[in-house]
Amino acid sequence: MRILFVGGTGNLSTACTAEALGRGMEVFHLNRGTKPEKTLPGVRTLRADIRDPVAAGAALGSLEFDSVVQFLAFRPEQVEADLELFRGRTGQYVFISTTSAYKKPSLTPVITEKTPLENPYWEYSRLKAACEKVLKEKAAALSFPWTVIRPSHTYDDGWIPSCFGSAGYGIAWRMKEGRDIIVPGDGQSVWTLTHASDFAVGLVGLLGRKDALSEAFHITSDEHLTWDAVHRIVGGALGVEPKIVHIPSDFIASVIPERGAALLGDKAVSVLFDNSKIRRFVPEFAPRVLFAEGIRHSLGWFDSHPELERPNEDMNGEMDAILGRWRLPAE
Ligand SMILES: NC(=O)c1ccc[n+]([C@@H]2O[C@H](COP(=O)([O-])OP(=O)(O)OC[C@H]3O[C@@H](n4cnc5c(N)ncnc54)[C@H](OP(=O)(O)O)[C@@H]3O)[C@@H](O)[C@H]2O)c1
Repeated sequence: MRILFVGGTGNLSTACTAEALGRGMEVFHLNRGTKPEKTLPGVRTLRADIRDPVAAGAALGSLEFDSVVQFLAFRPEQVEADLELFRGRTGQYVFISTTSAYKKPSLTPVITEKTPLENPYWEYSRLKAACEKVLKEKAAALSFPWTVIRPSHTYDDGWIPSCFGSAGYGIAWRMKEGRDIIVPGDGQSVWTLTHASDFAVGLVGLLGRKDALSEAFHITSDEHLTWDAVHRIVGGALGVEPKIVHIPSDFIASVIPERGAALLGDKAVSVLFDNSKIRRFVPEFAPRVLFAEGIRHSLGWFDSHPELERPNEDMNGEMDAILGRWRLPAE
């Protein structure tokens, strides 16, 4: 089976590449080639900027695929460009959406694929929902074969999840420095973190499948942790006690609206994902990596890349600004 990942060397797509290669698939990447060290042996890379459709078309040449997985569409017009680029070239177009698009707060904490896509807070999520809408509407007229996949908060080596940004070492750096760590609300809302290697089993299991066409799936772990527990597990793996400061999400939103949007419309809302649909389609999908293990692996990866064990200045700026305002004496 011939697969194209648009992206391929990213946080999610690297693990998907490894899984596809492991299943004997022929894997192509389309990316700009900025991370050659992350390209796994056996992959054929097509060099192009996906935002330049002429260059992307030239890189694709006359190639055809059983499945194209688009990790890099965030706006409806990018999906529309893909309809032009990949029409007649693939038996399946997989759009990577997000579970953050589901309605929050929801009427029930249990989220299925039928939960409405209606996040009133976060523009990123609304745009992903708009992408799905355009895809479904335009694809119907063009008989374009699509599948939608909605990952939850997913991490791999090089990521330490937090609710103030997850790419890089930022939250671990603050913990090691003994800086205060903001956790929204009372720290008891429930969150789902998925290791990319588990996500990859679900995604790759759907590739090239006719029965997965015109279907949407979320793919998440079944481990549910409070945000306090997430931070204590990271601290435990580092050998430090995190200095957690609880601050209400709406206060955080009043200081940094964009951060507040990601909390009020997503990370501060307790939900549980019902994964029975992906299990039905892909019986081998059985998430294995508990957060305590995944985070030890990611921290071990950082230990072998000490030059990347550095602060995240945006995270520090946001947290310090919010903490400063939180501690102002009441007027
Ligand atoms: N991580 C999460 O928690 C999460 C949750 C829900 C949904 N998602 C979705 O997952 C997707 C991200 O996947 P990922 O984590 O694998 O991606 P990523 O880490 O952002 O990876 C970037 C990949 O895309 C390539 N790339 C970036 N800009 C490009 C461009 N203009 N043209 C061509 N290639 C480009 C990069 O290679 P080059 O730099 O060499 O081009 C690299 O291969 C997004 O759609 C996001 O909304 C993520």
